[in-house]
Amino acid sequence: MDYFEYHDDVLACEGVGLEAIAESVGTPVYVYSQATLRRHVNVLDAAFGKTPHRLCYAVKANSNLTLLRRFVEWGTGFEVVSGGELFRVLEAGASPYSVILSGVGKTRDEIRHALDAGVLFLSVESQPELELISEIAVATGCSARVVFRINPDVDPRTHPYISTGLKRNKFGISLSDASSVIHAGTSLPGVTIVGIGCHIGSQITELDPFEEAIAGIVDLARDLVRQGIALEYLDVGGGLGISYDAEEPPSLEAYARTVRSVSEDLGLTLILEPGRVIAGNAGILLCRVIRKKTHGDKRFVIVDAGMNDLIRPALYDSFHRLMPVRPREGKEIVDVVGPICESADFIAQDREVNCLESGDLVAVMSAGAYGFSLASNYNSRPRPAEVLVDGDSFSVVRRRETYEDLIRLER
Ligand code: LLP
Repeated sequence: MDYFEYHDDVLACEGVGLEAIAESVGTPVYVYSQATLRRHVNVLDAAFGKTPHRLCYAVKANSNLTLLRRFVEWGTGFEVVSGGELFRVLEAGASPYSVILSGVGKTRDEIRHALDAGVLFLSVESQPELELISEIAVATGCSARVVFRINPDVDPRTHPYISTGLKRNKFGISLSDASSVIHAGTSLPGVTIVGIGCHIGSQITELDPFEEAIAGIVDLARDLVRQGIALEYLDVGGGLGISYDAEEPPSLEAYARTVRSVSEDLGLTLILEPGRVIAGNAGILLCRVIRKKTHGDKRFVIVDAGMNDLIRPALYDSFHRLMPVRPREGKEIVDVVGPICESADFIAQDREVNCLESGDLVAVMSAGAYGFSLASNYNSRPRPAEVLVDGDSFSVVRRRETYEDLIRLER
């Protein structure tokens, strides 16, 4: 459910027409709906009801500082995967104790930074990492709370680039090694074991993979508790998919029911790390048609947003709905492409769209997650502005980069 709808035949975000935003901020521009973000947080939180849980929003999905500030106001915690993300959430006013640090390649500096800040826990992905955490914790005179990320070898049936819970993926500790690594943790100084978890992938549109993976770590948790290892948290990761095209992902309620049914009798506090399901449908990339061209019977609509602004179609062959801001009569089959010098620079291929003409505005839907956060300056293109709509008003929450910004660090 989102708040992008036509009002009098003009596409709007909540109470603000997208033409007004394009007029005032220019294009391309990311536009986020605060009401949609809020709704997703509330519905997910309510779906877990009285089951003890903490929602730790996955910052990588969209790390805009103003959005992070809103999440802080709404009581959300954060999952971060780098020193930079940790810096951002602390800057946004997050309590360190609401933050968890994950990542398969945490550096010494990042671990030290997280321990100094006093994060809720660090997720551990290997024995060498565990030993390093112990060493740093001892040197800094603190005890590191750790959760072991298990790789349950479950197929999330998603794009291979965003599958993370198979044995061939680099993430986590295999179920067969888990016991020995965790037992090593019990005897290391400076380490307090507080839980186990898993994250098997992203854009998962079925419940079975979650059920299978979580059941696997629940069994392990039971064994550990039996052996006298006290646990506090069961981290079930993120990964729930959204509808970009014809997918019919489970509702937040159905997801919560499944997670609760496999884990509830353990009595641990659930950690949820949703990213896409919170931010994905809360944002669009608004762009303008530069011109059209044809090659024989092939028609191209060239827009002012490129793969540097939204890389998902090029990287994952992903589908994003296109909605004309002021729809015209008639349809045509076109490739919607950007201005970048790569043939992977497309937003849609062989897509039937409402006729578009030079100067028209088009909304690339479901771009709120892994949109701006994956943007680059390729082709020396300044990154787009970001706008947050709240009811009838909007504000620029990141200004458009300038040419000067492009070279600032090279002078
Ligand atoms: N927790 C961990 C440890 C993760 O690695 C991720 C995402 C999440 C939580 C959040 O997953 P979500 O709920 O958003 O599925 N760039 C790709 C997605 C990469 C996801 C990486 N990890 C895309 O555009 O589809």
